[in-house]
Amino acid sequence: MLIRPATEIPSSEITDERVYVRRREFLQACGLAAVGLAASPIAVNAQAAARPRKLENVARGPFGTTEALTPYENVATYNNFYEFGTDKSSPAMTAGSLKTRPWTVKVDGECDRPADYDIDDFIKPHTLEERVYRMRCVEGWSMVIPWVGIPLGDVLKRFEPTSRAKFVEFTTLRDTRQMPGQRSSVLDWPYVEGLRLDEAMHPLTILAVGLYGAVLPNQNGAPLRLVVPWKYGFKGIKSIVRIRFVDRQPVGAWERQSSSEYGFYSNVNPQVDHPRWSQASERRLGEFFKRKTLMFNGYGDQVAGMYAGMDLRKNF
Ligand code: MTE
Repeated sequence: MLIRPATEIPSSEITDERVYVRRREFLQACGLAAVGLAASPIAVNAQAAARPRKLENVARGPFGTTEALTPYENVATYNNFYEFGTDKSSPAMTAGSLKTRPWTVKVDGECDRPADYDIDDFIKPHTLEERVYRMRCVEGWSMVIPWVGIPLGDVLKRFEPTSRAKFVEFTTLRDTRQMPGQRSSVLDWPYVEGLRLDEAMHPLTILAVGLYGAVLPNQNGAPLRLVVPWKYGFKGIKSIVRIRFVDRQPVGAWERQSSSEYGFYSNVNPQVDHPRWSQASERRLGEFFKRKTLMFNGYGDQVAGMYAGMDLRKNF
């Protein structure tokens, strides 16, 4: 994430006509008929075989954009996941070493029902929903992704946070054998992120277990990752093993690494430049022309009220 500004991303990495064709095949394989495009059955089978398992019983979520989806191949091969290397292509090639079952999620801190959960028991009480969200990365690229997940607020309520719980802290697995990037000190491991309790409870915030109708590819944060669509992508912590209710504002991995560049709030704000690049525009992966970045990534109607009265230049 600190390596290259978006202006230096070669177009060969973001624009490839073939991905559109393969996307049609994948959508067909996933049964996402809404896109309404046809593909040859032979190609569909070849694609389906290479994909993660399709998820059953996915309901249409209450929120989401109808904008064109970013091709699956871009979503699953252009990643930030420093536990698997610092360049965008490494995670897709190396994250196969991550074992996502069995997987335990620890819930603790300021709550009345702390527990260690097997990932499947953790998810079971909830209905899986598809939510098509715009995602904006701090480096200047953006995507539209059909996530499959569960509302974080519904999950958190199960653990009965106490009145002392003001924030929620999330932690990624730490295991240098499965995550070779952790042998480097590029970040202070394990990766940590945090949200204010009201942000965590907001109905737009989800824990994702899949995308494009199928199980999350490891490189996208399997088996469980955070998705907060009005914040920069780096808040979307991957491969979560711990959720902790806390009374103090957590320090996220990027904030710890460079607090002048990455603040706690990390709301998408085109008026506040990152110290090393402008935040005013973005390039959606798969598109050629840049577009203007929207305040709160276009989710202002739903989320701006949470920041009323705050100086968003200081609380960046
Ligand atoms: N989570 C962990 N554990 N490690 C990471 O390096 N990178 C973050 C975020 N979550 C990261 C992480 C950043 S910088 C971004 S932009 C998003 O993941 C990228 O998510 P994607 O690869 O699914 O697009």
